[in-house]
Amino acid sequence: MIQLAVEVALEAGAFLKESVGKVLQIERKFGQETNLVTEIDKKAEEIIIGAIRKKYPDHDFLAEESGSHNKTSEYRWIIDPLDGTLNFTHGVPLYSVSIALEVRGEIVAGVVYEPNLGELFTVEKGKGAFLNKKPIRVSTVNDLIESMVVTGFPYTIQSNPANAIEHFVNILMHAQGVRRLGSAAIDLCYVACGRFDAFWEVYLSPWDMAAAVLLVQEAGGRFTDLHGAPSTVYNKQVLVTNGLLHDKMVEILAMGMKGKMITSRS
Ligand code: IPD
Ligand code: CA
Ligand code: CA
Repeated sequence: MIQLAVEVALEAGAFLKESVGKVLQIERKFGQETNLVTEIDKKAEEIIIGAIRKKYPDHDFLAEESGSHNKTSEYRWIIDPLDGTLNFTHGVPLYSVSIALEVRGEIVAGVVYEPNLGELFTVEKGKGAFLNKKPIRVSTVNDLIESMVVTGFPYTIQSNPANAIEHFVNILMHAQGVRRLGSAAIDLCYVACGRFDAFWEVYLSPWDMAAAVLLVQEAGGRFTDLHGAPSTVYNKQVLVTNGLLHDKMVEILAMGMKGKMITSRS
């Protein structure tokens, strides 16, 4: 089944890449001014679901643009056809396709494809994580001041910031650098392959992270909620690290949750 996910992610990714600059319809989701969806997001999702359904007509889907298909199959595909829609609509070449397979409630496989660099991240539970077929591991950085950390902001940040600003400033004061790339799936994959050392976000959806959280775990990283407690991809909050930085990240995030903002390191 992973092979099918790979084939369809490559097909959808190629479609996204050739569609840059050709967007005709931009809609706002849930009345949120900054939360965009285009006809390209929807077509990419149709390509993915169509191909999987052809081979597995009884399987269920949880997909960003078409929601839950409400079947009773033990197999469910969790899909973000275009993670990084804002980048895509602005012509920024940083977006991805994310496809995960859940079997009886457990995520067992995943694929994230980033078509501009041609990077294909694949994972199967218990079999390790790979980038373009080569095994990947999380970093070994154990001091936050030597770490590169990445985050994202929810579309609801202007009405419900959920301490995202405090967290951002607090981590900025303790890390070597903080980045915001605009695709949570890529952020997570970059932790899995050691480019970043940690990632947190205050409000994600299962399709943003289902495939890539498994990649981080299989690459030796740790996944919890922002308090450091065990989590699932159905929790909105996510913290992943290389494991070595986890407790320190939790300690700093705890300050932000109390609304405390540190504006200098001394
Ligand atoms: C978004 C991206 C972004 C993250 C947002 C997500 P979308 O997904 O992953 O990096 O910060 O929270 O909603 O809307 O581009 O699929
Ligand atoms: Ca997404
Ligand atoms: Ca999306």
